[in-house]
Amino acid sequence: MNICVVGTGYVGLVMGTCLAEFGMNTICSDKDSSKIAMLNKGKVPFYEPGLEDLVDKNLAEGRLRFSTHIKEGVQTSLVIFIAVGTPANDDGTVDLRYVKEVAEEIARHMNGYKVVVVKSTVPVGTCQEIKALIRENCRGAYNFDVVSNPEFQREGSAIEDFMRPDRVTIGAESEQAIAIMRDIYSVLYLNETPFVITNPETAEMIKYAANAFLATKITFINEMANLCERVGADVHIVARAMGLDGRIGRKFLHPGPGYGGSCFPKDTLALLNIGRQRGCDLKLVDSVIRANEEQRLRMVEKIRGMVGELGGKTIGILGLSFKPNTSDVRESSSIIIIQRLQAEGAKIKAYDPAAMDEAKAILRDVHYCADPYEVAEGCDALVLLTEWNQFRRLDLDRLKELMVTPIFVDLRNVYDPTKMREAGFQYCGVGR
Ligand code: UDX
Ligand code: UDX
Repeated sequence: MNICVVGTGYVGLVMGTCLAEFGMNTICSDKDSSKIAMLNKGKVPFYEPGLEDLVDKNLAEGRLRFSTHIKEGVQTSLVIFIAVGTPANDDGTVDLRYVKEVAEEIARHMNGYKVVVVKSTVPVGTCQEIKALIRENCRGAYNFDVVSNPEFQREGSAIEDFMRPDRVTIGAESEQAIAIMRDIYSVLYLNETPFVITNPETAEMIKYAANAFLATKITFINEMANLCERVGADVHIVARAMGLDGRIGRKFLHPGPGYGGSCFPKDTLALLNIGRQRGCDLKLVDSVIRANEEQRLRMVEKIRGMVGELGGKTIGILGLSFKPNTSDVRESSSIIIIQRLQAEGAKIKAYDPAAMDEAKAILRDVHYCADPYEVAEGCDALVLLTEWNQFRRLDLDRLKELMVTPIFVDLRNVYDPTKMREAGFQYCGVGR
């Protein structure tokens, strides 16, 4: 089967490459010609573990191709995935411009029956809008279906999430489209991956509900962490015991500096707005969004509590990406916290294993370092913001010698508080 994927970002490139790996002839298109030029040389423009090898392999085996033009992909493929970005507007609503532009272009090049699959996260009802747009812009009386197939790919483990998903969600209106989608994912079907087959509106809703729930779970444990600090409890043990209850589950109960990334902040805001537009007040989602913003500010207070007045102090930051194993800094709590610290007059030194180029495009006046030890040199405090493996076994004696004052603010609870104090650090984590 021939497949076309439009948009070679974090979502589209992983999906297109994995579909090629599943044996499908896949053309990935992107309007960004520099990206396509890189990809044609087998270079991935961002960091995602394992992706470059998989791109190389499928390019070499001839199943994966890259192009700046949509036309060929549309005309030779039965199924076209739309995986372009859906950024948030200033008011929190979703900017559907790119998705709609791509849909119109697909319509103009149609030459027979096509299944157009919306992979991007879009407000409920968008598939119906896309359907109308394609009908308006289509130059022949071709039959087509529009399907919602939301992604659940975590950056940093996106290949694994695509190849071994917890479920595949398909929102479609015709039996033909459902059969074609089942065929695409038949490799997983044999693995007994659960399939949720429903209408497009329900599929669109599933994506928002899942992400809002996960954001809520994180926010809940962050709130418990804040209370644990006041009552002398250890949030890790609380989370572990909570998670052992099968009804609650262990995952996404790690306290930290607030969730970030390209999905949770944007999707929770979008959901709130979808609710508002339909007269449905989503109080819980609203609180989660506000609590997450406050959590980031609370981290700044925590740092101030440790170092005193921030003006003139040098703060060393370990980690800039919104989570480990990605170079993505979109809505990263690290970036937001750094900007706050700078606004209060602190000088920033920073290191990240993958995200420094991305951070340079956003942050000013940061002294970027080659490793954690260069960061520590001359610092009044070190703040661990992203739990990269590289930061888990730092040479504590060496750090202490390099720092002006041995203050360690561990916003991901990577280190053991007792051992850190024994090692001579003034230490604080989150909720312990
Ligand atoms: C995805 C989804 O699309 C988004 O809805 C979801 O909520 C988060 O993940 P992502 O892959 O992270 O977005 O976005 P990004 O990395 O920005 O990639 C989008 C790609 O589409 C870019 O390479 C961009 O050049 C390309 N694009 C954008 C097009 O090819 N055509 C366009 O009209 C717009
Ligand atoms: C998310 C969804 O998990 C995924 O299914 C898909 O819809 C895309 O969006 P992603 O944003 O890549 O994935 O990463 P995720 O692992 O969900 O982490 C998001 C943020 O939450 C990160 O900033 C992370 O540090 C934070 N987080 C996560 C916590 O603070 N605590 C946790 O327990 C888990």
